[in-house]
Amino acid sequence: MRTLVLGANGQLGSNVVTAALDRGWEAHGTVRSSPERAPVECSRLDIRDADRAAALLDERAPDLVVNCAAMTDVDGCEADPERAHAVNGEAPGDLASACADRGIRFVHVSTDYVFDGRDQTPYDESGEANPLQVYGESKLAGERAVRNLDADSLVARLSFVYGTHGFTGEPTGFPAWVRGKLAAGESVPLFTDQHVTPSRAGQAAATLLDLADAGESGTVHVASRSCLTPHEFGRLLADRLDADPTLVEEGSMGDVDREATRPPHTCLDVSAVEAALDRPQPTTDEDLAAIDDALSLDRRAD
Ligand SMILES: NC(=O)c1ccc[n+]([C@@H]2O[C@H](COP(=O)([O-])OP(=O)(O)OC[C@H]3O[C@@H](n4cnc5c(N)ncnc54)[C@H](OP(=O)(O)O)[C@@H]3O)[C@@H](O)[C@H]2O)c1
Repeated sequence: MRTLVLGANGQLGSNVVTAALDRGWEAHGTVRSSPERAPVECSRLDIRDADRAAALLDERAPDLVVNCAAMTDVDGCEADPERAHAVNGEAPGDLASACADRGIRFVHVSTDYVFDGRDQTPYDESGEANPLQVYGESKLAGERAVRNLDADSLVARLSFVYGTHGFTGEPTGFPAWVRGKLAAGESVPLFTDQHVTPSRAGQAAATLLDLADAGESGTVHVASRSCLTPHEFGRLLADRLDADPTLVEEGSMGDVDREATRPPHTCLDVSAVEAALDRPQPTTDEDLAAIDDALSLDRRAD
């Protein structure tokens, strides 16, 4: 399968590139900033440039495009809604349409932040979207544009993405920050009033390719089976590091002054992806064990 990964330098995109290479697929990437140690050729692309994107599709002639490019700074979206809507809302529709015209499979990545988080039970794919901030509104607009313009596309919603960078192997996301604090013996206040189903980037990347390979379309949730607060997640990390658990302190979303409102409970129901691929999604504990294994293999290789 010839794969083109948009946003290849990011946390998820870099893992999609390595997941494609791992299964012997041909892969190319697009980046906006300079790629770090990319194992594949990467072309420059701002996804808002629809003509350049279409030209790249003709040049690379991929079978599959995975769009991991997005404006992911949730507070930054609040400050610059025009840019957020252009990158997250409009560009994905142009990409989907260009892929549909050329018979290319299109996988687009979205977010649990399309939900308002007022339901206490995990959201399945039919849950009512009602974003609370510009980021979620722009991502929901992107989902709708993709579905309207390419009926065969797949929209995958992820939640609280973390893991290791696919090119550098460096830890990324929330656990990277918490591990740093705990390793330095510093206390870290973590929210007890937010619930998420963390998606490990490497696992999510492989799952996106499995779904594309299986010809799945529509909307699907790709996350772990564990519905956790960041505080509970931090306690899991402290256990793994053998760190003093009292360093993981209780905090509240209300303690932090941020531009964008966060939804309190956006755990995703992953039954649909499990049924589509006939296998269970991992728990967060299993995902953390996979990261520890990868990091110790890297250390041995150094
Ligand atoms: N991170 C999370 O917790 C989370 C949760 C749920 C869903 N998601 C979704 O998962 C996807 C991947 O997120 P991630 O965590 O991998 O984020 P990330 O590390 O911030 O990667 C996003 C990538 O998009 C690129 N990008 C931004 N604006 C662009 C533009 N105009 N044109 C082309 N590329 C552009 C960035 O490139 P530069 O660095 O060069 O600007 C970056 O490499 C996104 O769709 C996001 O909405 C993320």
